[in-house]
This record gives sequence, C-alpha cells and structure tokens, in this order.
Amino acid sequence: MNSSTPHKSKGQESKGDSETIAPDASAVQVLMLGCGSMGSALLTQWRNVDGFAFTVVSPSGLRQFPDTVTQARSPEDLSGKRFDVIVIGLKPQMIANVLPDYLEFLAPRGLYLSLAAGFSITSLMAVTRSRSVARIMPNLPVSLGKGVSGLYGAEDLNQEHRALINSLMASTGHALWVSGEDALDRVTAIAGSGPGYAFEFARAWTGAAQALGFSEEQSRALVLKTVQGAVEMALNTDATLDELRDRVTSKNGTTHAGLSALNNDEQLDNLLSNTLQAAYARAVELR
Ligand SMILES: NC(=O)c1ccc[n+]([C@@H]2O[C@H](COP(=O)([O-])OP(=O)(O)OC[C@H]3O[C@@H](n4cnc5c(N)ncnc54)[C@H](OP(=O)(O)O)[C@@H]3O)[C@@H](O)[C@H]2O)c1
Repeated sequence: MNSSTPHKSKGQESKGDSETIAPDASAVQVLMLGCGSMGSALLTQWRNVDGFAFTVVSPSGLRQFPDTVTQARSPEDLSGKRFDVIVIGLKPQMIANVLPDYLEFLAPRGLYLSLAAGFSITSLMAVTRSRSVARIMPNLPVSLGKGVSGLYGAEDLNQEHRALINSLMASTGHALWVSGEDALDRVTAIAGSGPGYAFEFARAWTGAAQALGFSEEQSRALVLKTVQGAVEMALNTDATLDELRDRVTSKNGTTHAGLSALNNDEQLDNLLSNTLQAAYARAVELR
C-alpha cells in the first residue's frame, strides 16, 4: 500500500513538491463490495479524495456509477486484481455467504472496512480470517460531506489503516473513533438514526406552522431555514447551548412562552431520552 500518498480533496491546491498528487498507478485501490444506498452515499465524497481508486461490485448492473469508478458484477470480473481495502457494503445477513468469494482479492496487509450494522468485529475476523478489520457507522448526509460517523477498529488495527480510514472519512463530515462496539451502537442511536429524528421534528414544526396560517411551502422554508441558521450559529461559537437559548429568550417574551410549552416538566428531555434509549435497545437486539 502506498502509505505516503497525500490524501487531499481533488481541486485542492498543492502546497509544495512534497504534496504532489499521486498518479493512479500508485493510488490506494479500494473495492466496494456492495455499493447501494450507503455505499453510494460514501462514494459521492470518497471519489473526490486524491490518492484513491475505486472499483464497485454491483451484481444487478442496474446502478449508475461515475466514469472514474471501475465496475464489476462478480468475482470473475476481478480476476488477477488486488485491492488495498475491501469495503463491505452488503446487508449484514449476506456477508457470510458473499464475502468469502472476494477474500482472495485483498492484497497482503490489506484492510477490511465494514459498513454493516450489527455485524461485529469478531464475526468479521471469523469470516475474513484477518485481524485488519474495522467498522464505520455513517449516516446518510455523508453524501453531502455533512455526515456523522462512528469508527471502530480491531485492537491491533495498525496506524497506517487508521490514517487511511481518517483520510476517507474526513471527506464525509464529522467522524469519531470509539472505544468499543457498544459505543458504536450508541453513536448509531444518536447520529445514525439522527436524520430521521430531525426530519420528524421538522415535519411536526412545519405542520404547526401551517396551523398558524402559512402554506406548506412557506412553512417548510420558515422552519428549515430557521433550523439551518440556528445550527450554523451554534457550530460557530463556543457558547453552550443553554447560553445560546438564553440569549434569544427574554423573560415573559414569545420564546419564553413557546419554550415553556415545549419543555414544561422536562417533557422534551424525557422524550429525547426515551427516543435514544429505544434506538439503542434496538441496535443491541440486532447485534
Ligand atoms: N442505509 C443506511 O442508512 C445505512 C446506515 C448505516 C449502515 N448501513 C449498512 O450499510 C450496508 C448496506 O446497506 P444499504 O442500505 O446501502 O443496502 P442496499 O442499498 O440494499 O445495498 C446493498 C448492496 O449489496 C449489493 N449486493 C447484493 N448482493 C450482492 C452479491 N452477491 N455480491 C455483491 N454485492 C451484492 C447490491 O448490489 P446491486 O446494487 O447490484 O443490487 C447493493 O449495491 C448494510 O450492512 C447496512 O447495515 C446502512
């Protein structure tokens, strides 16, 4: 593997000779075994990272991939090839049946990187007969470079593999290495499922806006742009969320009245606590 390859987004200026972009021949070769909803979302950003080349396996042949991505439909199409990384983008229940046919395509000292929910490092090591395995739990905004992902590696995952994962995941948004698979399930409950909570919260807020007399389109813009502005403010300050809330809340003003209804008796705190606990409990059941 070309461990010294600089991994910068394409289009980024080179700062000097030491950072010149690697030619394709020296690129880290990545095989994406299964490139459906989540694999494609990641690939949208990954394919812009310099120093990597991607091949996808799509048996149906129905999916459209960019021209820069090589396509295969079966192990026969990969004859004689070797990859530095095999990304496992299959449904968990397919892994034990499908992955063994692809083990021969991983180069010596290569890495298996799994997206599969609930398929443990121990199970991956058993199927791959390798200790160079890692898991990532992304959420769908990775396609915009605004995702949130949990990362977890086998105990003896080496620094080169960690750096390689960091290079790819930096292009997809925020990523957090966690210390165990239980923590990966907790990240899933918070962030993996998070876009669903955000959409549901915004849907209810939009419905309430319509009840105050605005059209669906107007309500959607009022709510989503308000959320966007508030989130961007929070991301660009060191102020705590309590402080930010208090700054926009005058005593006995409108926000104060709204917040009293929203979180009276800590009902919102309890609701969100129950929401995350339910998602975490389901992740544990699916292990
Ligand atoms: N979707 C999410 O939000 C999300 C979030 C976190 C983690 N994940 C994990 O990501 C993994 C994939 O989920 P997904 O939602 O992306 O599923 P998906 O859209 O159904 O994609 C599955 C992929 O597997 C391919 N495939 C099926 N049989 C195959 C075979 N025999 N050989 C090679 N490839 C085969 C399919 O190929 P074709 O395209 O040719 O049909 C498809 O591209 C799952 O393990 C899931 O737990 C998903």
